[in-house]
Amino acid sequence: MAIATSLKDQPLTFEYSEEQMLIRETINEIAQKEFAPRAAEVDKNHRFPRENWDLLAASDVCGLPFPEQYGGAGLDSLCYSIVVEELAKACATTSVMYSAHVSLTAKPIYIFGTEEQRQRFLVPMCQGKKLGAFALSEPGSGSDAAAARCTAVLKGDHFILNGSKNWITNGIEADYYLVLAQTDATLKHRGLVALVVEKGSPGFSFGKLEDKLGIRGSSTCQILFEDTPVPIENMLGSIGEGFKVAMLTLDGGRIGIASQAVGIAQGAWDHAFKYSKERSAFGKTINQFQAIQFMLADMQTEIDAARLLTYHASLAQDRGVKFSKEAAHAKLYASEVAMRNTVKCVQIFGGYGFVTDYPVERYMRDAKITEIYEGTSEVQRIVIANHVLKGM
Ligand code: CAA
Repeated sequence: MAIATSLKDQPLTFEYSEEQMLIRETINEIAQKEFAPRAAEVDKNHRFPRENWDLLAASDVCGLPFPEQYGGAGLDSLCYSIVVEELAKACATTSVMYSAHVSLTAKPIYIFGTEEQRQRFLVPMCQGKKLGAFALSEPGSGSDAAAARCTAVLKGDHFILNGSKNWITNGIEADYYLVLAQTDATLKHRGLVALVVEKGSPGFSFGKLEDKLGIRGSSTCQILFEDTPVPIENMLGSIGEGFKVAMLTLDGGRIGIASQAVGIAQGAWDHAFKYSKERSAFGKTINQFQAIQFMLADMQTEIDAARLLTYHASLAQDRGVKFSKEAAHAKLYASEVAMRNTVKCVQIFGGYGFVTDYPVERYMRDAKITEIYEGTSEVQRIVIANHVLKGM
């Protein structure tokens, strides 16, 4: 009986809806026409591509999974996953700029926010007028999220924030920062609070802008708080609920990173496939060598499997069931597929893969972060192990 119930919860097949097909075609066209041609320049100059954000806003996708009453498009998680994949195929920087905004900032505001907070923060985010960022990690705590030391002391109707946060995607470019801070260190994870901090708040400043291996246009920096007042109306949920907000947010965020990893892997594969048909060696094009054919076949098999795991997690999210394990499966597998397959794609290009004349070296550099942010591969294994061992 228990097996039958769990099988019932696992969709084995699906078809893309017309809406999902349309969103893929639309975003593919924009991303390939507009974002792909400038991706190398964005990477080279570490430049935040604001014009890409403006185009996403003009295309009405900044609030894609949120109801229309908040300015969203009311589409499902699979559509969101498809958008992130298509963006990553063209420009990984743009995909993370988008996913940090949607999954890591707008989503928790939608889930935990009051109607007033949704109107105040979510509506302009869905319209693309405001950009979001998520601030959990600190110089001394990444995987151990509960060890956050940034403090929030309630004084009257304001929290006073002190401390710093690291690795903030959308860094200096964002408008709203979802900050997880400690109200009482003795309570450990049960002392955390989630606050929306607005850029320009007193005592809020930016630290080092990171010089990164990949996703170099995405503006990653440290943010600093020195006696920064945050109105109590900016608290999501209640005091002590911050860890839950962070964990639930990351469950959704991990599907975004899995989608990004699928996009990076597929984008690199597409370049390698095209190159293999053009490049000749020993009197024939290299796609006629079985060594290359097998590499391409193995890679596409893994990419398809990663995509299905990602869709599986998206479908679980839309069904409203707990999807932490499914998200961890997808992120773990897809990010490792992206890493090993982009290395193979560089190999197919030989010497040309090692220089910037072709984009595959960028895909390889961009892939690495998918194994690290929003929970390292080791953290995903902890989450999966906690779930699978629970029943033993
Ligand atoms: N949903 C809801 N609640 C959850 C949860 C989830 N997915 N996971 C855990 N919880 C709850 C537990 O039920 C438990 O609740 P109680 O207090 O009621 O008992 C509580 O949280 C503590 O759970 P654990 O004991 O399992 O927590 P832990 O301290 O052992 O941590 C962890 C577990 C999985 C390692 C977690 O700390 C984690 O995910 N770490 C990684 C953090 C991370 O991904 N950081 C990336 C930051 S974002 C980023 O990358 C930057 C960017 O901008 C892209």
